[in-house]
Amino acid sequence: MPGIAPQAVLLPLTADTDLPSSFLDDVISGLTSPQKSLSSKYFYDETGDRLFQRIMECEDYYLTRCEMEIFRDFTADLAVPLNIHQSAFDLIELGAGDGTKTRHLLDYLERQRADFRYLPVDISGHILEVLAQNLENTLPSVNVVPTQGDYFDALQRICETSERRKILLFLGSNIGNMTVEDCSTFCQQLSSMMNPGDMLVTGFDLKKDPKTVLRAYDDHEGLTREFNLNLLRRINEELNADFDLSCFEHYQTYDPGSGACRSYLISQCEQAVTIAGERILFRRHEPLFMEVSRKFSHADIEALAGESGFSQISEVCDRKGWFMNAVWLKNL
Ligand code: TRP
Repeated sequence: MPGIAPQAVLLPLTADTDLPSSFLDDVISGLTSPQKSLSSKYFYDETGDRLFQRIMECEDYYLTRCEMEIFRDFTADLAVPLNIHQSAFDLIELGAGDGTKTRHLLDYLERQRADFRYLPVDISGHILEVLAQNLENTLPSVNVVPTQGDYFDALQRICETSERRKILLFLGSNIGNMTVEDCSTFCQQLSSMMNPGDMLVTGFDLKKDPKTVLRAYDDHEGLTREFNLNLLRRINEELNADFDLSCFEHYQTYDPGSGACRSYLISQCEQAVTIAGERILFRRHEPLFMEVSRKFSHADIEALAGESGFSQISEVCDRKGWFMNAVWLKNL
């Protein structure tokens, strides 16, 4: 396996060959519902990964820099509430990406001689390879066990094979990419797979100046636009469809009340798209909903902890107060 650190083991939980049929089912069901939508979990093919890297580096997208500042400059504030010397633990990162933020925490844990393994979980096998290689180069002594697949399948598998205390990381405001209901269900489901004493560290993008939020998803370089259009291109390639990318325009909204930042692709004309033999009609100006990125207040976050069976034991923000990493302890 090129690019994989020698001590790393890839556990393919969702075989890649399973992808096309569920991908097709999800796409068809999203496009035939009254409010057309696509599932954002398919954004991350190789081009999607690359575009997302560029989004994270771009001027307008502040989230990554804010969370990076927390992990780089406030590492101890983040780590101390985790009780890292209490017992051996598995540090499990859901949606690990390339792991650049987590590296600061891993480095700290190593230097504190904490007894832990790092288990990054991601739907993208490609990004896990990049991650494993990065860690092999920079922190070769960390025991890394990458797991490709769906969060809950992966977590289930990890729970079955390890008795250690669990510290879960769910960073990058990925929690914001769920609807209110899905987010609540997700937190409860995580909680149900955790034991008292286990912890969850989540990254939340905080409510702020609406223009700052909107700009992050409607960036000057048009990267979010490209990122959204890339999913249509992926559907064309992998599901034998014929989307004309020039007939869709990216449209972003932010509602400062609810904190929902939504992206759409708007059909520029009346058109028909064929996907694996199925014909989908778009009206002129019909919206295709792509993704929500929700923003939270401090109170929203504590309330979510409470209703999901956790107590919030710590919160760490960047200097601007734009982003928060909350540490939740699973209740008895
Ligand atoms: N979770 C991050 C966010 O909400 C990253 C992300 C997911 C994202 N989908 C995106 C960023 C689409 C830009 C565009 O911001």
